[in-house]
Amino acid sequence: MTQPTIPLNDGAQIPQLGFGTWQTPEETAAAAVSAALAAGYRLIDTASFYGNETGIGKGILVSGVPREEIFVTTKLWNSQQGYDETLRAYDESLQRLRLDYVDLYLIHWPMPHRSRYLDSWRALVTLKNKGRVRSIGVSNFQVPHLQHLLDETGVVPSVNQIELHPYFQQRPLRAFHAQHEIVTESWSPLGQGGALLRDERVLRIARKHRKTAAQAVLRWHLDSGVVTIPKSVNPERIRENFNVLDFRLDSEDIVLLDGLDNPKGRIGPDPDTADF
Ligand code: A2P
Repeated sequence: MTQPTIPLNDGAQIPQLGFGTWQTPEETAAAAVSAALAAGYRLIDTASFYGNETGIGKGILVSGVPREEIFVTTKLWNSQQGYDETLRAYDESLQRLRLDYVDLYLIHWPMPHRSRYLDSWRALVTLKNKGRVRSIGVSNFQVPHLQHLLDETGVVPSVNQIELHPYFQQRPLRAFHAQHEIVTESWSPLGQGGALLRDERVLRIARKHRKTAAQAVLRWHLDSGVVTIPKSVNPERIRENFNVLDFRLDSEDIVLLDGLDNPKGRIGPDPDTADF
């Protein structure tokens, strides 16, 4: 089955369904990535903060899947923001991953009170101009942070990876993305496996399509046009979450799931006030 991809604003293509690895420990990362690649995933998402880049690199290496067929994302941690620090952090991530480039490098959080994300962004632009990274973007940026990058550098991020699930749909931010050709990527797409997957309205849609609640939710992400990166360390659920390319939600399902939005439904930190 051909995998859906989405064009980025720099001409690259990103697979729409990827594999998340937040909270995947270093010891299990290689096995999880091997299982994901065997299941068919071709986008692997990590971050220096996750502490598992070495295991992720090992999983990629032993998988036998050619490097050029895998889209690898990693992220710059907050403590390494700044122009020179970012260039150094990128090299360190590559060493841990045992790769000579990543497909997408993201600033993990804006940390607006530290005022360093603009310098970090300029370093990402340098890496991109030198051909050392394929695409560059950000994560957890709000509209004013994105606007600041555009005003000061004129370089539009290819991706903004944000918390997004049916209980927290981020419509105003996504409208800004659409206006500026920024691809939306959803983290914690399953609402971290919590109440969302037990929601009777989600379960009803899942039953109708003979799918699980997680599969119905992931299909909603794909049908909404975003890139999504469900996380699991369980081989069965890794396969389950990839097995969503053979059905589509109907308009009634989409209206219902769109209706679950709650602007206060954020599970993770608020990027405006986060301090870590
Ligand atoms: P596990 O890793 O043990 O499978 P999110 O991607 O929204 O952050 O969700 C990740 C959480 O949801 C993890 O706790 C993960 O647990 C759990 N999870 C992942 N896939 C499924 C699934 N198909 N059904 C139920 N829970 C899942």
